[in-house]
Amino acid sequence: MIDQLYRKAVLTVAGQKTIENAVRARGWGMAQRFVAGETPQTAIQAVHDLKKDGIMANLDLLGEFIESPAQCTQFADNVITMLDAAHADGITPYVSIKLSSVGQGKTEDGEDLGLTNARRIIRRAKEYGGFVCLDMEDHPRVDQTLAQFRTLHGEFGGQHVGTVLQSYLYRTEKDRGSLDDLTPNLRIVKGAYLEPETVAYPQKADVDAAYRRLVYAHMNAGNYVNVATHDESIIHDVQMYALAHGISKDAFEFQMLYGIRRDLQRNLAAAGYRVRAYIPYGRDWYPYFSRRIAETPRNAMFVLRGMLKG
Ligand code: FDA
Repeated sequence: MIDQLYRKAVLTVAGQKTIENAVRARGWGMAQRFVAGETPQTAIQAVHDLKKDGIMANLDLLGEFIESPAQCTQFADNVITMLDAAHADGITPYVSIKLSSVGQGKTEDGEDLGLTNARRIIRRAKEYGGFVCLDMEDHPRVDQTLAQFRTLHGEFGGQHVGTVLQSYLYRTEKDRGSLDDLTPNLRIVKGAYLEPETVAYPQKADVDAAYRRLVYAHMNAGNYVNVATHDESIIHDVQMYALAHGISKDAFEFQMLYGIRRDLQRNLAAAGYRVRAYIPYGRDWYPYFSRRIAETPRNAMFVLRGMLKG
């Protein structure tokens, strides 16, 4: 409850233009903790840096206020440019996209533009042996995202496309089961959007319990699981569960956000677990940065200390 109030308060304040302008003017230095940079080259440098610690990467071009079909298609082009740049630099690209950013919900030539653009991105990623994860957004988009995932999985195969399920939604355990026929590569998260009680558990304990159930069920069904959380108690339980059930360290990976719990990321990689950091980059960093601050007062303190230092 307190978590939700804190998140709501921060997101409300962050949404005000004066706050945004002040943070944009002074905040880039602090945002760099959570965002790799503004260009593909800065993100690629971050991939190389993490590799030194045995940590894999997931590149994410930021861009949430993309409105027109032309902007969506341009955004998809920019993702493809990043795939090309990563490949040219010897990296097998692993990227995440939000279908809304590439046109989901907009129809062009009789087809959903999000699907058309996602197809272009995945086709290019596949050429390079890469992987594209379809991020999950707010609850009204879940049905369409899962349907489009199924279509794209059919066209490109599970080695090249995956998606995300959110444990805070009541519907998610059923959704997970309904995808089992695909043996899908799924990322399990708790969920980052402000959702009403009609669709999502209001209590954190229920979200956490559902999270564990989802990961275990996905493992038991023989699927690859991306355990995307910074929650140490869950990470510990997943390690124990895998050990007790003979699930190999190759059957799952831990995923965390760039700049968050770097100690934990390094320790897990050193212990032989697969670890992947989600590396956001791009000029549109402010909304992403605000959400990280909203996740925990610890991050707000980090930023405040930086601002006081001037
Ligand atoms: P929780 O919030 O319970 O935190 C557990 C512990 O980690 C606490 O001690 C907390 O303080 C610490 N912690 C959490 N966030 C922190 C932060 N930002 N900084 C410092 N400490 C922090 N969501 C979504 O809706 N759709 C998506 O597609 C994705 N994709 C995605 C990819 C990856 C790789 C990750 C890690 C997360 C996402 N998310 C997401 C976000 C996710 O839903 C969730 O909001 C955050 O991961 C925070 O939840 P935790 O699981 O970390 O647990």
